[in-house]
Amino acid sequence: MERILEINSLYKNYGKIKAVQDLSLTVNAGSVFGLLGPNGSGKTTTLGIILDVVQKTGGTYSWFGEKPGNESRKKIGAILEGPSFYPYLSAEENLKVTAQIKNVSYERIDEVLKTVNLLDRKKDRFQSFSLGMKQRLAIASALLPDPYVLVLDEPTNGLDPQGIADVRSLIVKISGEGKTIILASHLLDEVQKVCTDFAVLNKGKNVYTGSVEEALSNKEIVEVKAHDKDNLIKLLKSCSFVTGFSENHQTVLVHMDHQKNAFDLNQYFVANGLVISHLATNKKNLEEQFLEILSQSS
Ligand SMILES: Nc1ncnc2c1ncn2[C@@H]1O[C@H](COP(=O)(O)OP(=O)(O)O)[C@@H](O)[C@H]1O
Ligand SMILES: [Mg+2]
Repeated sequence: MERILEINSLYKNYGKIKAVQDLSLTVNAGSVFGLLGPNGSGKTTTLGIILDVVQKTGGTYSWFGEKPGNESRKKIGAILEGPSFYPYLSAEENLKVTAQIKNVSYERIDEVLKTVNLLDRKKDRFQSFSLGMKQRLAIASALLPDPYVLVLDEPTNGLDPQGIADVRSLIVKISGEGKTIILASHLLDEVQKVCTDFAVLNKGKNVYTGSVEEALSNKEIVEVKAHDKDNLIKLLKSCSFVTGFSENHQTVLVHMDHQKNAFDLNQYFVANGLVISHLATNKKNLEEQFLEILSQSS
């Protein structure tokens, strides 16, 4: 698989603040890679470094298997800060300005406006746009030079639910057209909805890397309800293959060894004379895993 980005043991200190520590990760072609982490975990700093706007303290990174430079920069479309456009100019005129700055022809303007669903609004002034439309125009602008990779920092921040849905489906669409996307987000459901792979940052460290599909399918939790909840809890505590459980109102969520499943758990209850009223398997969601990862790593 083609390597788009490789980061090796990256460090960034701001004085005493260790913003990025020993961060390594790989982004493969065609993926939508999510950099997931709470605020202050070093996501923007990492993107700043790989886009060459923040100076690193240590470590290396390479784009497309090459040392970063002008050639690689041309293949990357990025939006780090919020969109900056001229309010009085139309969408189309603003993209003409971008095209001039980036030295690309006007020919792609309609195409990128179509991609972001703004073609019918191209004559409208930027200031008349909703935040979601402004963000989509920013994405259009990043797509103008037809980059291999699109880098987005918190792409749905501040948007209303419709704007969020539009930008997320746009990201999936752009990915479907063959571009690799790297995005930073503090939102788990965002990563879950749009990313194929992700890394979890905590205090500047990469504490987890994996595919979203694997993260979603890997772990099973079993929901159990019993009228005799006290006995249920007691049995769970003494069960050898139960690794943990949490109570959620009347339901108890049971975490087990990988080799065990709901059937084994039910058998255990039966063998110990507990009658249960509800038993269901439940894929552990990314949020629970994310919280677990962060609690284990801090
Ligand atoms: N220009 C800067 N000067 C000093 N500290 C900074 C600067 N930029 C970021 N930081 C600090 O670095 C850490 C990581 O910040 P950041 O990369 O913005 O995290 P995130 O994007 O995950 O919210 C935070 O502690 C932040 O306060
Ligand atoms: Mg940030």
